[in-house]
Amino acid sequence: MAINLKVNGQIRRTNAKPETPLLYVLRNDLALNGAKFGCGLSQCGACTVLHNGKAVRSCVTPISAIGTGEITTIEGIGSTDKLHPLQKAFIDEQAAQCGYCTNGMIMSAKELLDRTPRPTEKDVREALAGNLCRCGTHNRIIRAVLRAVETAGRG
Ligand code: FES
Ligand code: FES
Repeated sequence: MAINLKVNGQIRRTNAKPETPLLYVLRNDLALNGAKFGCGLSQCGACTVLHNGKAVRSCVTPISAIGTGEITTIEGIGSTDKLHPLQKAFIDEQAAQCGYCTNGMIMSAKELLDRTPRPTEKDVREALAGNLCRCGTHNRIIRAVLRAVETAGRG
């Protein structure tokens, strides 16, 4: 039986089984490739998306757990023409090497900024502690999130 999911403000239909991880449906059925497969075990954060504003690991979230909730992926927060402030700050700080972790980092940071608009550096470090960067770009990533906070504060 088809399942409807609300993704980035649109109702999207999938024929995937209820136990299918959300990440597979996003990437394979809905052509939303922003969330990445890293570990598949809820350990790296590359697959992070928001479920009703809360950062979740889509690799271990079955679509049956979504219900009528709202899923937001990196594609839903900004575009090349209209970057989200976090996306712009990541570019300005050159906060990526291979970039594989970047989208998950931004989604975790978005959850933080939505609930704590003026986080401290410690808050940012804690919020991103579960997102791994194998390229060792963490310090630039933290700077990028703090830059986005500053930009928002000036705006
Ligand atoms: S791929 Fe989901 S946490 Fe690593
Ligand atoms: S930039 Fe390569 S994993 Fe983070």
